[in-house]
Amino acid sequence: MSQDVKLIQLLSDGRFHSGEELGSILGVSRAAVWKMLRSFAALGLCVQAVPAKGYRLQEPLELLDGALIQSVLSPRAKRLLSELELLSTVDSTNRHAQRAAAQGAKSGYVCIAEHQSAGRGRRGRTWISPFGANLYLSVYRRFHLSFAALAGLSLAVGVAVLKALHHTDLSGMGLKWPNDILWEGRKLGGVLVELTGEASGPCDVVVGVGLNVRMPKGAGEEIEQPWVDVRTIAGGRSISRNHLGGLVLQELLTGLEDFEQLGFEGFRADWLRWDLAKGKEVELRLNDKVVYGRALGIDSSGALLLDERGTVHTYNAGEVTLRVRDDTVA
Ligand code: BTN
Repeated sequence: MSQDVKLIQLLSDGRFHSGEELGSILGVSRAAVWKMLRSFAALGLCVQAVPAKGYRLQEPLELLDGALIQSVLSPRAKRLLSELELLSTVDSTNRHAQRAAAQGAKSGYVCIAEHQSAGRGRRGRTWISPFGANLYLSVYRRFHLSFAALAGLSLAVGVAVLKALHHTDLSGMGLKWPNDILWEGRKLGGVLVELTGEASGPCDVVVGVGLNVRMPKGAGEEIEQPWVDVRTIAGGRSISRNHLGGLVLQELLTGLEDFEQLGFEGFRADWLRWDLAKGKEVELRLNDKVVYGRALGIDSSGALLLDERGTVHTYNAGEVTLRVRDDTVA
């Protein structure tokens, strides 16, 4: 374990610790402690320094705990998990999972990080990923299906995340096509699915999920769209990040296997149940144009059905952005 991670662990209780105490536990000088603490800003951690009291984190942290996460998994999900790797900091869990797969990790490999330095969203966006605050996780799975058969997978992953959230007492969350997880028009989480392989299969798939759990204010200010976190939805109550991570992993591992067996049909009814745009006037931004219409849900492959002045058109998820033209859904 690096000195930085040890120092974060010491501070994770949210209490004051003197530079002297921290230095003596780590076996370094007070100046070295101060230097490390200053570098934490880059991780999105806010350290307060108060004369005569010492240093503390603005808020206590619940660090990732593999045993706690796995304790939530059913026997079936445990069988589907080949490895769970916890990372302190990484560029992107999706990239890390892709590298792991290229180096021989087995299908069912999962990584979860405390912090991403280059977290990636859809359409080339950055996913703001401060240390210890939210969930950033990726699952690698090999599918014996063609690219075409995987068309609805990213929507199915959205369904899996919503199911996980519904195992808590939170309510009001829904899906915006293809897979944005929203609450009252604000983004709670997102899904990034990346495929490699032969068009006819098999395909190596990395499924990345980001879920805002307890976004610090400073980090939240960097997000370019309306957002929300689990803590806000829970009315300020803190919900265990490890428990939530376990719930998400449970639904993802089993959901990906279900998808291989049932295809998107097995998820469509749930997706429609949580569709936030159904019946609303929407704007669809394609690469070269914008189209307007009324959202009619999705077809059996997960493509969006749009009523454009009486004619129904279908659109596949890809580099497409959907906006709902009223202020209840972003
Ligand atoms: C979106 O733009 O809605 C998708 C966001 C996906 C973010 C997650 S966080 C874990 C995984 N690693 C990444 O770099 N991105 C995904």
